[in-house]
Amino acid sequence: MTARNIDGNALSAKLRENFATEAATLAQAGVTPCLVVMLVGDNPASAVYVRNKVAACEKAGIKSLKFEYPADATEAEVLARIAELNADPSVHGILVQLPLPKQIDEDKVLEAISAEKDVDGFHAENFGLLLQGRKSFYPCTPWGVMKMLESENVPIKGAEAVVIGRSNIVGKPMAVMLLSQGATVTVCHSQTKDLAFHTRRADIVVAAVGKPKFLTGDMIKPGAVVIDVGINRLLEGPDAGKLCGDVDFDSAREVASLITPVPGGVGPMTITMLLGNTLESARRAAG
Ligand code: GUN
Repeated sequence: MTARNIDGNALSAKLRENFATEAATLAQAGVTPCLVVMLVGDNPASAVYVRNKVAACEKAGIKSLKFEYPADATEAEVLARIAELNADPSVHGILVQLPLPKQIDEDKVLEAISAEKDVDGFHAENFGLLLQGRKSFYPCTPWGVMKMLESENVPIKGAEAVVIGRSNIVGKPMAVMLLSQGATVTVCHSQTKDLAFHTRRADIVVAAVGKPKFLTGDMIKPGAVVIDVGINRLLEGPDAGKLCGDVDFDSAREVASLITPVPGGVGPMTITMLLGNTLESARRAAG
């Protein structure tokens, strides 16, 4: 079997087109959707992500403002800006790009963002609502994965799903979303004793480990759906400098039925769902 790709660029383009229409409708009704992105420090990857987020907003007719702070910015400075943005009714989404410099407490900053403007879905209140199966802002990457599965009509009810990775941003919310839709979910991580034992039973595998080509074809059940959340830059070998995922694409695609490529898979969906959350927030503000 050779797997078919799930094209994140194509799905993103379709969704973003709808979002642009909706943004225009909201603007006509007097509510211009607005996202504020805060970037602290000089992490080059973060700078690229933020640039892409701002560009995607612009293209979809969502206003975006970028606030940049030096690497030695204080926690108080960042918190003061968040308080200001929380109180500003023209701002619908606030996103602080992670990671933050070490003098700034990430949890404190994320909790300071009003849950109603937490379009990243990282606030404890939103995470709690997600756990309870209630309406909240869903974290963008796992929500994007759910949209990809939905777009391919992948059966989730009763499916064996294995999530590799237990981060607050991807692994944990991913497991909860799959569970909410009726999958039997196993969460594997660095302490898991026999990873392949679990992954070989999975109808759906989501790899979010941050290790290049970690999940290989021999660890995958024939016909499984393989979702690759990893974005790694290869440092050596003939492909040095190229991007690759957490999945060894070449061996995995020989076994799986559907697979997400890197780049062009989950990556673009994260920003797409951020636009979706910002619009949702603007819609709620419009009443
Ligand atoms: N850093 C890596 N991914 C993300 C994300 O989705 N949101 C924010 N705010 N920071 C990140």
